[in-house]
Amino acid sequence: MADTELPVENAIVFGASGAIGQAFTTAIANTKTLQTLTAVSRQPLNYDSNKIHPVQLSIYNEASIATLANQIEHPLDLIIIATGILHSDDLQPEKSLKSVSENQLATLFHTNAIIPALIMKHFAPLLRKDSPSMLMALSARVGSITDNRLGGWYSYRASKSALNMLIKCAAIEIARKEPKQIIVGFHPGTVDSYLSKPYQSHLKPDQLQSPEMSVEKILTTLHTLTSKHSGQCLAYDGTIIEP
Ligand SMILES: NC(=O)c1ccc[n+]([C@@H]2O[C@H](COP(=O)([O-])OP(=O)(O)OC[C@H]3O[C@@H](n4cnc5c(N)ncnc54)[C@H](OP(=O)(O)O)[C@@H]3O)[C@@H](O)[C@H]2O)c1
Repeated sequence: MADTELPVENAIVFGASGAIGQAFTTAIANTKTLQTLTAVSRQPLNYDSNKIHPVQLSIYNEASIATLANQIEHPLDLIIIATGILHSDDLQPEKSLKSVSENQLATLFHTNAIIPALIMKHFAPLLRKDSPSMLMALSARVGSITDNRLGGWYSYRASKSALNMLIKCAAIEIARKEPKQIIVGFHPGTVDSYLSKPYQSHLKPDQLQSPEMSVEKILTTLHTLTSKHSGQCLAYDGTIIEP
């Protein structure tokens, strides 16, 4: 952050086995100031570095998230929420209202909005208070209501819009007491991953970024943010995405 340089000593990444979560884990592990990085995943993970502490969270619910928060020993400089779902073997993004289902709405809202909200609830109080600290959740440009010109993808768009609202509410509340803490959403660009794989065929080659490239740009942008950005959803290059 330009006027608030964020020296990352203690950090946590949720969704550490995902394409972008993995790239964040690697990039943060290479930060010179790092002391501990907790890498949370539903998968069992192993790392060479003894600074990275893998935590397997098989099920994300309020009890498991609260239990993990109670185990964190140091104030956190950086919290990255890199979890999210667009499709699965059983669920494809809805092209029309006819395809909207209770199950798909509930599943995507749970992963894309409820889990990040519970992480914010239990982990934002662990953010460092004496110097700048940040909680960042990966959102998506398609969560912007202003930017929605094509329609479709009902559950994904709506769950990311809900995430952006949850971020805004948390940012307003936290700014009242802890002005050094920043809560933001980030659109990572279109990134090569399991999530984007089925939708890559129509892209021009320069439209698809590697997870490493996206994370490098997000981290560069993160370090330029100040408290006035708290509550916003930004693209990886720092441009603001209208709600
Ligand atoms: N790729 C893109 O083009 C793109 C574009 C816009 C926004 N995004 C956003 O970026 C984030 C990361 O996506 P990605 O591209 O890295 O996708 P990814 O490789 O599929 O990773 C997503 C990760 O989310 C976690 N996750 C999925 N379902 C979950 C559930 N039910 N409960 C808890 N965790 C769950 C998993 O992490 P673990 O296996 O480690 O538990 C999974 O690996 C998502 O929020 C996505 O919406 C991606």
